[in-house]
Amino acid sequence: MALIDPVLLKARLGFLAGRFDVDALDECDSTNSELMRRAEHGAPAGTVIVTDRQSAGRGRRGRNWLSAPESSLTFSLLWRFSGPLGRLSGLSLAVGVAVAKALEGLGAQGVCLKWPNDVLLQTGEGHAKLAGILVELAGDRRGTQAIIGIGINLAPPDGDLAQPAAALSQAGHGVADRHVILAAVLSELAGVLETFALEGFAGLKADWQQRNAWQDLPVQILGEGAAPLVGRCLGADEDGALLLETAAGIERIFSGDVSLRRVGSTLGGRSA
Ligand code: ATP
Ligand code: BTN
Repeated sequence: MALIDPVLLKARLGFLAGRFDVDALDECDSTNSELMRRAEHGAPAGTVIVTDRQSAGRGRRGRNWLSAPESSLTFSLLWRFSGPLGRLSGLSLAVGVAVAKALEGLGAQGVCLKWPNDVLLQTGEGHAKLAGILVELAGDRRGTQAIIGIGINLAPPDGDLAQPAAALSQAGHGVADRHVILAAVLSELAGVLETFALEGFAGLKADWQQRNAWQDLPVQILGEGAAPLVGRCLGADEDGALLLETAAGIERIFSGDVSLRRVGSTLGGRSA
């Protein structure tokens, strides 16, 4: 039996239980891929796939996401928005706000956000990645479908990672029950996605900015085949683009094939 029991989860979700239809699997390739297949066959908005084990968990740009049954929470939520795909810029930042608020609500300390799709934990050593978000969008006749995939480290992951990883167990977090954590994230998502549908990222910008790991600090944008673009991180604009103050003026960086890093550090280094 899978580690998540949908009946227990429903009880935790309370009055929001009717908004979600949760299927808990022992294993799948990737909850995003599985949910995408189900969406193609007409799965309704609010469908959630949560799994103990992913054989091909994915991050951005085809990178791997490491997870293991006892130490991870990996799930995806299907949501639908009216209007074209272009209206959903900033959705992965909005999802980050929901994850951060949920973990904070459970008592986690030091949770912050890194543009565009990472949830970090600030530790004595600097910042390390606590959770990853992979939003995959597709337009259809009815509007835009979003597959929102979230991986949270409950305990530190095993394996070689290019950048430091963190876990909820290091966040002064007393609650280990994955039902409680999943219910908290889904509950925050229900509110955040409603705000996003009405106001776009503009309605969540202040919440994001307040948790921006490197607000006003020197950062660099790394892109393939281009010299690093260095500047001061001014946060995100109302469309979710990163604002970078450079010697040439303020640049807007759109989420694409670029990575944000602190100047002179790997992922986080020590905050100034
Ligand atoms: P950026 O998003 O800034 O380009 P990133 O390194 O965070 O950089 P993503 O594509 O967002 O890249 O995330 C995938 C990366 O996350 C992988 O390259 C891997 O290094 C790292 N990673 C994989 N599994 C985990 C995990 N369980 N915890 C923390 N980090 C992980
Ligand atoms: C990233 O940091 O690049 C995003 C990582 C997202 C991982 C989650 S785990 C659940 C869902 N299924 C996947 O294959 N990926 C996302």
